[in-house]
Amino acid sequence: MTRAELGDEQAREDPTVNELQRRAAELLGHEAALFLPTATMANQIALRVLTRPGQQLIAEERTHILVYEAGGPAVHAGLITRPLPGIAGRITPQQIRNVVETADEFQPAGIVVLEQTHRSAGGRVWPLEELRAAIAAARELGLAVHLDGARLLNASVASGIAAAEYGALADTVQICFSKCLGCPLGAILAGSEERIAQAWKLKFLFGGALRQAGVVAAAMLYALDHNVDRLAEDHARARRLADGLAAAGLPVDVDAVETNFVGIDVGSIGVDAADARARIADEGVLVGLLRPGVLRVATHLDVSDDDVDRALELIPRALGVLVG
Ligand SMILES: Cc1ncc(COP(=O)(O)O)c(C=O)c1O
Repeated sequence: MTRAELGDEQAREDPTVNELQRRAAELLGHEAALFLPTATMANQIALRVLTRPGQQLIAEERTHILVYEAGGPAVHAGLITRPLPGIAGRITPQQIRNVVETADEFQPAGIVVLEQTHRSAGGRVWPLEELRAAIAAARELGLAVHLDGARLLNASVASGIAAAEYGALADTVQICFSKCLGCPLGAILAGSEERIAQAWKLKFLFGGALRQAGVVAAAMLYALDHNVDRLAEDHARARRLADGLAAAGLPVDVDAVETNFVGIDVGSIGVDAADARARIADEGVLVGLLRPGVLRVATHLDVSDDDVDRALELIPRALGVLVG
């Protein structure tokens, strides 16, 4: 990062950002790509590029764009959100058809947003064929498709399927570098030349056009070279964590662990999730929330095998106190 060649990103003159965008477009199976500070901004810009105000946004009900982006779809793009129940974060072609059947000229369906991996389902991976089928249905119905691939590279490493195979299916796809890839910040939005040209204008509008952004892009290029294949280690550690927590008697669905998240369904044993998080933090382990009542234990670049061993000792101890 300290050696990065820099220029004015707003003027498209930062060579490190330009190189990152070139590589990311190729990685994701699209003509062009745009560097953005956050994945949220990438998602919101995609909605603006692909929709018109008053259209419906169809997505699984706990999709990040619906639950964690401060109402952005309504605020920034004027969309009506249409949350659908899903299994493992996935919705079906028939569910998409049903929405379109009940839509009318005053609230036309406009876009489907799918998430790979699906965060709130526990980092679950869309199988390629299911993703293809959902996207094909959307296209037949004339809908745009955005893929929130904040953790697309986790899906790619877990499935052995190139990121471009998933990415090229959608009109736009986003990946985030501040998750398991180990960067302090940074995201990419990829799509056609035309759509990315529109996205550039919105990047200015949203205040996301930067100056010497190559400092960050250098970290992102480093991550592409060094931190992608190693995601398999995070996944293996998550699996070991899940097996160990389940063996200690905690409510963990081991089969749902496909990438780097482990869910502990404390709600199912009558334990309040906020209390559980606080007790576990007291023991020295920080965990998050996957969805209501379910804790999220995440593995990433900074979590070692020793850390997993410690967590396996400390989390059951913390929860044991609550369960009695
Ligand atoms: C699936 C998904 N999309 C988008 C985001 C937004 O990322 P950022 O915090 O970089 O805006 C997240 C963050 O957790 C996410 O999990």
